[in-house]
Amino acid sequence: MSQDYEQFIDQVKKKTAIDLSQYKEAQMKRRLESLRNKKGFDQFLPFFQAMTKDKDLFNEFLERMTINVSEFYRNGRRWDVLETKILPRLLQERKKLKLWSAACSTGEEPYTLAMIMSKFMPLTQVSILATDLDRAILERAKLGLYTERSLKEVPKDILTAYFEKDPMGYKVRDEVKRTVQFKQQNLLADRFDDQYDLIVCRNVMIYFTEEAKHELYLKFSKALRPGGVLFVGSTEQIFNPSLYDFESEDTFFYKKIK
Ligand SMILES: C[S@@+](CC[C@H](N)C(=O)[O-])C[C@H]1O[C@@H](n2cnc3c(N)ncnc32)[C@H](O)[C@@H]1O
Repeated sequence: MSQDYEQFIDQVKKKTAIDLSQYKEAQMKRRLESLRNKKGFDQFLPFFQAMTKDKDLFNEFLERMTINVSEFYRNGRRWDVLETKILPRLLQERKKLKLWSAACSTGEEPYTLAMIMSKFMPLTQVSILATDLDRAILERAKLGLYTERSLKEVPKDILTAYFEKDPMGYKVRDEVKRTVQFKQQNLLADRFDDQYDLIVCRNVMIYFTEEAKHELYLKFSKALRPGGVLFVGSTEQIFNPSLYDFESEDTFFYKKIK
């Protein structure tokens, strides 16, 4: 790793607690280099110094390093498995579920979870924690306003029941919004609550190094109650689930066994 980039990583960590060395290097460096060049810097350190004085530039950095793409019912078949197999089992074991969407981006994921939960109970009884590293993205999530593109997988009946047409696109109805509490959190640095029944963490672990993933699986395992489930993204199988007291309950669903 170049000294310039290494120092940049150190400085960013000191200032923000974001540890870029826990993200796959080639990919991250390429993304940041292109922003740095666009801003007219040919070294990382002066780019960092500029970032400390310019909030907009810092936000652009954050936007570049976090990849925010999301959509409702992403990989729809997996959400079917959640609805028809995983949730019925969890609800047999406990009436009220403790639910967390980790790295929730613009909110499509926790809102999808709320819409699915509404098949089992009134929304007034549903409560979901949704967290992300990026504060700006959480503000957009709270707004709950989406373009048609992120809605293409939404079933017709859900679209009618839980979205309102808006001149800017589609708005998630307040009764759904009220079920989700958004909070800023760094998965790689902050501590987690425990006794979760379901943790949904999808399409963020692919960006982390193997060591960072290992630590995170351990933290997720501790955060789940025995019988609780970790739902991961469709490219994110865990290679050795038993190492974390997990067993596969279905593809991309890991049940904590003790
Ligand atoms: C590609 S989105 C995934 C959104 C959603 N989970 C999905 O699957 O559609 C990745 C999200 O991870 C967030 N993220 C990246 N690093 C993070 C970290 N260390 N802690 C928490 N969130 C992080 C980004 O801000 C971004 O919103």
